[in-house]
Amino acid sequence: MSYNSFGRVFRFTTWGESHGPALGAVVDGCPPGIALSETDIQPFLDARRPGQSRFTTQRREPDQVRILSGVFDGRTTGTPISLMIENVDQRSKDYSEVAKAYRPGHADYAYDAKYGFRDYRGGGRSSARETAARVAAGAVARQLVSEVTITAWVEAIGGDAIDPANFDAQEIGNNPFFCPDAAAAQRWEKLVDDARKAGSSLGAVVACEATGLPAGWGAPLYAKLDSELAAACMSINAVKGVEIGDGFAAAAASGEANADPMRPGNDGPVFLANHAGGIAGGISTGQPLTLRVAFKPTSSILTPVETVTRDGEATEIATRGRHDPCVGIRGVPVVEAMVALVLADQKLLHRAQCG
Ligand SMILES: Cc1cc2nc3c(=O)[nH]c(=O)nc-3n(C[C@H](O)[C@H](O)[C@H](O)COP(=O)(O)O)c2cc1C
Repeated sequence: MSYNSFGRVFRFTTWGESHGPALGAVVDGCPPGIALSETDIQPFLDARRPGQSRFTTQRREPDQVRILSGVFDGRTTGTPISLMIENVDQRSKDYSEVAKAYRPGHADYAYDAKYGFRDYRGGGRSSARETAARVAAGAVARQLVSEVTITAWVEAIGGDAIDPANFDAQEIGNNPFFCPDAAAAQRWEKLVDDARKAGSSLGAVVACEATGLPAGWGAPLYAKLDSELAAACMSINAVKGVEIGDGFAAAAASGEANADPMRPGNDGPVFLANHAGGIAGGISTGQPLTLRVAFKPTSSILTPVETVTRDGEATEIATRGRHDPCVGIRGVPVVEAMVALVLADQKLLHRAQCG
């Protein structure tokens, strides 16, 4: 009923708020004997960490993870794995306006409507600080699906897309945008700077590919691999769309153009295309898994927007404080984490039913 947990067999629960003392995750259902230490988790948190460039929020959080339980002598014990990350750079006074009036596009009004009471400091539970806990849990999942390589990147910011001909996977870690196209990354510096200086914000498309997973993970109907991935990615703050494979473009293609032709190969069929994004009938085909995630522009902006106060009075709100001018950028490690968490769960489910 409270929905702070995700997954069926490999299941995690996140806890904590933006301006509380700490936040974290409890991962339950992880098999015993998996190698795990804080150094396996930290690099992924470092990739999501705020304050690393002028294109993300200037909140300074070291995001150091501590494993509190479930690991002994460098291996998982099969008991709940508790992960904790301290909040150290809160500035709750920046949120006095948000206490009184609702930020359109943010969760302030909806939380009040549902709970009648909310922790407004930094957005409380609706803050994407919570995604640090997902990234930590996702790093545990990666240890379980170490045969799979998961890579996400930013494909477009504010409608300005990369040129697929310029795609260079090595480039993703070389710029502050997780952008595989060096020319696009250069353009985005001005684009994001201009939006921030104008008191505005931008949306983004994040693409993700997972390779190395075998054919057979997923389920045919109510836990289709597509629907599990879509649910996982839609649960990320500010996500408004998910496409698997060609997604909405498939609706404009002919049957023959959208087919993924097959030829005989040494280890089963070889596919000549991958419009399906590596999933057919809800089950992985062994092809790369491909998906795209649409992040809306940040709703906390300096430009005043019409709104109402908690008492129902008309007002305007200009959100001060430290915010990401384009949340999709730091969404990249979060998308990777959610894909890892789904795949870890599906691997165990497949093993449970099919051995
Ligand atoms: C990595 C990341 C960072 C975010 N940072 C901000 C932020 O600085 N300011 C803001 O208003 N929203 C931010 N968001 C989005 C809000 O958390 C989100 O819009 C809000 O919780 C309302 O939920 P919804 O957009 O999913 O409906 C961020 C999202 C992500 C994924």
